Amino acid sequence: MPPAKGPTVRETALAARIAELEAELRARDDFLAIAAHELRNPMTPISARLELLLARARHMSGSVPAGLVHGLELLEELVNAYLRRATTLLEVARASSGKLNLQTAEVDLSALIRQVAANLLPMAESAGCQLRITVEDGVNALCDPMGVEQILENLLSNAIRFGPGRPVEVSFARDGELARLSVLDEGVGISDCDKGLIFERFHRSRRAKPNGGFGVGLWVTRQLVRAMRGEISVSSRRGAGSAFTVRLPLGSGSTVHGD
Ligand SMILES: Nc1ncnc2c1ncn2[C@@H]1O[C@H](COP(=O)(O)OP(=O)(O)OP(=O)(O)O)[C@@H](O)[C@H]1O
Ligand SMILES: [Mg+2]
Repeated sequence: MPPAKGPTVRETALAARIAELEAELRARDDFLAIAAHELRNPMTPISARLELLLARARHMSGSVPAGLVHGLELLEELVNAYLRRATTLLEVARASSGKLNLQTAEVDLSALIRQVAANLLPMAESAGCQLRITVEDGVNALCDPMGVEQILENLLSNAIRFGPGRPVEVSFARDGELARLSVLDEGVGISDCDKGLIFERFHRSRRAKPNGGFGVGLWVTRQLVRAMRGEISVSSRRGAGSAFTVRLPLGSGSTVHGD
């Protein structure tokens, strides 16, 4: 039998280059995580202060200038949109480097889903979408509340952005050993060709407006759903709206993995 050959010079050089590129990618992901974190953090106290101001202005509505409450409400919506965007960036960075780091706890999912949907009411209103929320009471699960929040925010903000002026429906119920969350819209819909691609990173339909998002919300959503041992599916027809359904096991712990 001929002696086993060692790697050639070319193979060694290639392996070194791959290691170098992997290190560069890790550095990029770390930088993205730090940048997203730094961009998001200062906005949290601003948002809290704004909420306080808004509550006071509403309380004194008879004696504050007309339009002030409305102005503050618009500002709150903009700040919340910024926070959602920065949170998505942070999740992308974490998911890319396989550090989703879910914090599993016993969660009242019914209350959480109601709260998150209510947080998006102003966005729905300004897009002219009537938001219908149907939630079965008392569904608890072992899961990561921030992850669930992010999942619903991504699906619901998509439904509103891609279905303006039309009703949007959020429904949540227990389904055997699973929790089933659905977000339905009557918007532009998704072509068969796009359906296979929308969960990929940075994919946006060619028809998507240039001022839209990064094209990462659904990718992050799927990473989170998978990390919670759940699954996500979509059914849609171009021009006839979309329905996204997430199924999460009620009793699961979480695993962390990315692709
Ligand atoms: N409810 C929907 N109706 C129609 N198209 C949708 C819907 N949700 C997603 N899409 C399509 O899938 C693409 C990817 O969605 P995704 O949420 O990942 O990115 P995005 O919304 O464009 O940006 P981001 O979420 O990063 O702000 C969208 O750009 C759009 O083309
Ligand atoms: Mg999105």
